[in-house]
Amino acid sequence: MKFFIDTANVDEIREINSWGVLAGVTTNPSLVAKEGRDFIETLKEIIDIVDGPISAEVISTESAGMIEEGERLASLSKNIVIKVPMTSEGLKAVKHFTKKKIKTNVTLVFSASQALLAARAGATYVSPFLGRLDDIGFDGLTLISDIVDIFNAHGIDTEIISASIRHPIHVIEAAKMGAHIGTIPFKVFDQLIKHPLTDSGIERFLSDWEKTKK
Ligand code: E4P
Repeated sequence: MKFFIDTANVDEIREINSWGVLAGVTTNPSLVAKEGRDFIETLKEIIDIVDGPISAEVISTESAGMIEEGERLASLSKNIVIKVPMTSEGLKAVKHFTKKKIKTNVTLVFSASQALLAARAGATYVSPFLGRLDDIGFDGLTLISDIVDIFNAHGIDTEIISASIRHPIHVIEAAKMGAHIGTIPFKVFDQLIKHPLTDSGIERFLSDWEKTKK
């Protein structure tokens, strides 16, 4: 599984990128709004930090508007991936972008049928939202497993981004199932790296080392 970060905060992106583990970034309108900054300026900064796919979401609901917005965003860098919502208008836009060799990420995927349709329209990535399914009492991880099985059975090369990740178990289980990518909030990266035995182990090594000086 590759790691993307799910944020529009450039400090968070810079930090995780410095760990050497970051393969890409996903943003969405809510994450951009949370930062209270200009979207294009933010994207340009992210482009300078990360050499990998950066998803930028369109806000139009009609395919014509999505295409216009998406082409403008794609002109910023070859690394920009146009994120479109999983609707029939979104699929029309994906068809257009695919023809123009612009990469796409179909977002707000909540069923295997949606994922299969997005893949067949030419999506580079699909983003099933596991946390939001868990929130309403469904099993988000089962959706990931179903999509992995269907894509494998049919030799589909659309990559699966496990999205709406809430905790490390989501990451590990989705990785075991074969999801290609996890897009992970900063807070969860912090949980992934920490282990109490690592902390106490470092403490013990340091205090034993001090004893060698006496
Ligand atoms: C994915 O690309 C989305 O930005 C994201 O994972 C949504 O997660 P949320 O359910 O925490 O808002």
